[in-house]
Amino acid sequence: MPVPDRQMHLAVLVAANGNHRGAWRRSGSNIEYALTPQFYVDFARKAEAAKLDAIFFADVPVLDPKTLAVDPPSNVPEPIVLSAFLAAVTSRIGIVSSVSTSFSEPYNVARQFALLDHVTGGRAGWNIVTSAIGEKNYGGQPLPDQETRYAQAAEFVEVTKRLWDGWAAETLIIDRATGRFADSSDIRETAFHGRFFHVDGPLNIQRPPQGWPVLFQAGASPIGKRFAAATAEAIFTADQTLEGSVAFNRDMRRLIAAAGRDPSRVRILPGITPIIGATEAEAKAVERELSGYIDFEASLRRLNSYIPGVDLRQFDVDKPLPREALPEISSVQGRQSRYAIFADLTWNHGWTLRQLVELTGRSDGHWTVTGSPEFIADQMEHRFRAGAGDGFVVMPTYHPEGSDLFFEEVVPILRVRGLFRTEYEGSTLRDHFGLEIPARGARTVNAEPFTQSA
Ligand SMILES: Cc1cc2nc3c(=O)[nH]c(=O)nc-3n(C[C@H](O)[C@H](O)[C@H](O)COP(=O)(O)O)c2cc1C
Repeated sequence: MPVPDRQMHLAVLVAANGNHRGAWRRSGSNIEYALTPQFYVDFARKAEAAKLDAIFFADVPVLDPKTLAVDPPSNVPEPIVLSAFLAAVTSRIGIVSSVSTSFSEPYNVARQFALLDHVTGGRAGWNIVTSAIGEKNYGGQPLPDQETRYAQAAEFVEVTKRLWDGWAAETLIIDRATGRFADSSDIRETAFHGRFFHVDGPLNIQRPPQGWPVLFQAGASPIGKRFAAATAEAIFTADQTLEGSVAFNRDMRRLIAAAGRDPSRVRILPGITPIIGATEAEAKAVERELSGYIDFEASLRRLNSYIPGVDLRQFDVDKPLPREALPEISSVQGRQSRYAIFADLTWNHGWTLRQLVELTGRSDGHWTVTGSPEFIADQMEHRFRAGAGDGFVVMPTYHPEGSDLFFEEVVPILRVRGLFRTEYEGSTLRDHFGLEIPARGARTVNAEPFTQSA
């Protein structure tokens, strides 16, 4: 293989029970320790020792009581609190939290991330999500359609940027003799009065060290991609196939350029859910074991939540889903892009309902690979070189062995191949990603409108 001309960026998604729905049932899975500090401290420190760019928290603030009987809550319990906790026990690794623009207020989010960025010395990232579920816990109004959710997200981000830019280190005078603390003429007004938000500002916290936390985005429908093109500095995406991943990457770069931004300033990170064993035989054995633990009904319910208005139980589990009985992809207002992944697999690649359910339990539609550390590294290298993005969000399937094998075996192989850093070169998440601090007062270009047709 030729010497690579660029290196991967790697974030690792933390889910205490593993990202495989059956992983908690493995002997020694540590599921009992999912709420203990030690689990998170160990995980974060191992990720940092491996020199990863960031740890990453997804967040879906909802629980299905029916699946709780067989399935522990996915993801972390609450990312901002956890980020603050982990800030104190790490020193270099970035910490990225998902926070929804549908269930939060921009002023709260701006101050939380501003403080996180200060106390981490510039290691905070915000994964901007619009959420497709959870509205019953936040006021009970039906969730708006995609277009409205993304329009709200655009406004939300605009407000937070104005808040972060309100006052900065250069605003401060700190003259003890005269008693002048700051130059109030340097304070930039927020005064935002839009369709969704009214925020006077300014923020009660000085501009974050990174200017803004690194702005991630996850949401890949056509309108979600346009929002990302205008806003995101890093994009977390899901794709099962290499072709899908390469097409997403190419499409996003085109959209970013069309939005007047430099595509080389955006990091695209597809998810990977590896099942790693010391040898291929061991990995296959773990895969078989974990598959046996997937609760079919719970995973079917989860899959069905992406495909509203149809009861999937009516279909033959050993046949592909009938296209004519399912909704048009563009009509789905929830997790449209995730539905598109499953629809592509069943309509264009012949996957049966049973296979789709298993994929849901295994990776929720993210790219799955099973094998030895060498094999996993090969696959990652192949996709990286083929143009699938700038690196990956690694979603370890089982703990602790599966994540340990990634940190301790796969990463060193990537390093030997010149595909991953040997040491951290900088101290902020922007440094790790090679992203500049945004100019104070920089605004989102072409932020509106986020129409489906464009
Ligand atoms: C890879 C990926 C990760 C996501 N993670 C979250 C999450 O942690 N919390 C959340 O509420 N929504 C999450 N979303 C959902 C998006 O915010 C969005 O609401 C949903 O996907 C619908 O938009 P889309 O069809 O444009 O993807 C995620 C979406 C993608 C594609």
